Amino acid sequence: MRNSPNSEYRELKRITKAMLWGFRDCTKRRTTKAYLALMEKVATPFNELPKNSEKTNYGTAISPSTAGKVILDYRRTIAYVIGAKRLVERAQKVVAGRPVVYASMGTGPYDPGVFPLTTMFSSKQLQIIAVDLHQANLDSLEKAANNLGVIDYFVDFILADATTLQFITKPDVASTETMCPALTEEPQVAIYNNTKKQILIPGAMIPEEVCISAFFVVRDSAYKETYKFPLGEVLRLNSNSPDCLEVNKGFEIPKEFYRKISWMCQPKISIRLRTAITVFGGIIILPNKSSITDDIDVEFNVCNKPSTITIQYVLGASYRDIKVIGDQRDLQKESRIRIGS
Ligand SMILES: C[S@@+](CC[C@H](N)C(=O)[O-])C[C@H]1O[C@@H](n2cnc3c(N)ncnc32)[C@H](O)[C@@H]1O
Repeated sequence: MRNSPNSEYRELKRITKAMLWGFRDCTKRRTTKAYLALMEKVATPFNELPKNSEKTNYGTAISPSTAGKVILDYRRTIAYVIGAKRLVERAQKVVAGRPVVYASMGTGPYDPGVFPLTTMFSSKQLQIIAVDLHQANLDSLEKAANNLGVIDYFVDFILADATTLQFITKPDVASTETMCPALTEEPQVAIYNNTKKQILIPGAMIPEEVCISAFFVVRDSAYKETYKFPLGEVLRLNSNSPDCLEVNKGFEIPKEFYRKISWMCQPKISIRLRTAITVFGGIIILPNKSSITDDIDVEFNVCNKPSTITIQYVLGASYRDIKVIGDQRDLQKESRIRIGS
């Protein structure tokens, strides 16, 4: 632990403690706001952050400005802070006697995945590699590290595409939050696949697991949900999962599903993709509890009652391009997609 006279560092320590111990939603909301306010003081102020996002081969790197704002997704942010603590604690048992080298893949300008850790571990216990595609994020991070007096934790600030980056100094553990619901839009999967092969402690990755499952959801003409039918798992991303970048998952539809629908009420039927995240060590983000676990609904016409459906999309590509194919015949590229419940 560091005993710095710096008042900003003391504030960081106070906020981190509240993040670790504040269980009520209102406390979590307040502490993430306080974290953002502190970062505005010590890092690049929010209104000076660039607003340009960048397209990569495997998804979009959101703008520094948007990456700064996601801190306010308080359940996500705090789950990642606590998960990072557990990850480093577990790695300490493996590396015994030397610092844990922790890579943050996609730091954003104010990375809550790293600064809180500096109040829990000394720089002899923890060394940080910061990676981002935007120089503005790395500049902001370095400024904050200097102003907080924690620059000695940082071994490198790497401007690179994390989907292809080859580390010279291999990290022991790594963390990435570069995702949208159902692993669309952002390059989380490509970053995860590239990083998990390079870390020295197998499986020491945040998130530990992302699981996407599918449901049929039936609504009446007033758009009220009347019936939900589970289809099963679409994808599981973890340290043992194959390096696939596409979803192509088929499901059988039992006849009983069609019998339960009241066809007189002009039902609207959607395929719902549901996301759940295990951050690390039992810390989970439940479906619809954060912007990265919102449900995605793809409307689907089942008038011809297909007996199978296939869900197809490219991980990291737009959610608008999710396809649902009934009986491999009536290919549908639906445009009416809703996010959120
Ligand atoms: C959702 S933000 C998360 C920021 C921060 N780690 C947090 O948890 O609040 C995702 C960050 O990943 C970066 N990023 C996205 N794709 C990337 C890539 N291919 N290589 C490096 N950084 C990337 C973005 O620039 C952005 O800063």
